[in-house]
Amino acid sequence: MTARLISILQAPKEALDAALAELRAARPIAMPTETVYGLAADATDPAAITRIYEVKGRPRFNPLIAHMADLGMARIHARFDPLSEKLAHAFWPGPLTLILPLRDDSGIHDLCTAGLDTVGVRVPQGFAGDIIRAFGKPLAAPSANTSGAISPTTAAHVSEDLGEKISLVLDGGSAGVGVESTIVKVEADGRVRLLRPGGIAAEEIEAVLGRPLERAEKAGAAIEAPGMLASHYAPEAGMRLNAEAPLEGEAYLAFGPGAVTDREKAAFFDNLSPSGDLAEAASRLFAAMKAADRSGARVIAVAPIPDHGLGEAINDRLSRAAAPRP
Ligand code: TXA
Ligand code: MG
Repeated sequence: MTARLISILQAPKEALDAALAELRAARPIAMPTETVYGLAADATDPAAITRIYEVKGRPRFNPLIAHMADLGMARIHARFDPLSEKLAHAFWPGPLTLILPLRDDSGIHDLCTAGLDTVGVRVPQGFAGDIIRAFGKPLAAPSANTSGAISPTTAAHVSEDLGEKISLVLDGGSAGVGVESTIVKVEADGRVRLLRPGGIAAEEIEAVLGRPLERAEKAGAAIEAPGMLASHYAPEAGMRLNAEAPLEGEAYLAFGPGAVTDREKAAFFDNLSPSGDLAEAASRLFAAMKAADRSGARVIAVAPIPDHGLGEAINDRLSRAAAPRP
């Protein structure tokens, strides 16, 4: 099988019809979202969700995010506390996932929630929302990549990785945000926890909440969001972080306007954002890592990235890419 590729810009009707046909046949599709490309299937259908795991080669059943058309659909499946409601109003549609109590009559399958009594809910921007609205049911969608690999931000990334395993890839161009959604959970006692930094900066969420987010402890904490497992986003090359300059033969990812010492030593060179814009760096991160990896360099060295705003998500993904491999 080689996936059909349809442009949602050039042929939106054909793309939507093809997507609905695949989803109704319990076949996962690759679709663009504003964060990364997702591998989407009916969140209420165990056969469809099982296919997602098979295609990704995901070693175990981690909970998947249930993507909704809007807040109205989300309310059918999950219970909202006032703080989660406030965040939904502020950031949906957009790159925020809320972990919420699952309603008993939701119909979202255990394979999507991994048997938890909570569900990760997000309302994506753009064409993905149109597909969900037309389908009428939530879509479970992890990133559309082989488990453990770098998440895809273009249709070409998806086709290279999964093109022989799925039947349809919808092309919506480069994903604008470039890192996955921020995952937040409001606890019963009112504490709000940041389970995964992502496409919405923690500071923006804190501004809406009027209180600080609690960070998951970096080491030793129970794994609540398995996206927080150590090795993830792993390129073939090794990673060297906070590298002020390249060593001979390394691929080097710079950040910001400063001149790079020993730039000529790098076998591959790119700048994530010459102007030092963290949103631009996030949007280019995964594509740059893939290009650096393809250069054949044994090590990808990355300049220090400020740890505020979207820099927190960038540094999270980089440290997972650098983590020891299983
Ligand atoms: O931007 C995104 O979120 C992308 C696009 C495709 O929407 N999706 C994505 O999915 O990143 P995935 O499967 O790669 O990551 C989902 C994360 C995992 O870390 C999972 O553990 C967490 O969400 N998660 C899902 N449901 C959860 C729950 N009930 N409790 C805690 N964590 C949950
Ligand atoms: Mg992923």
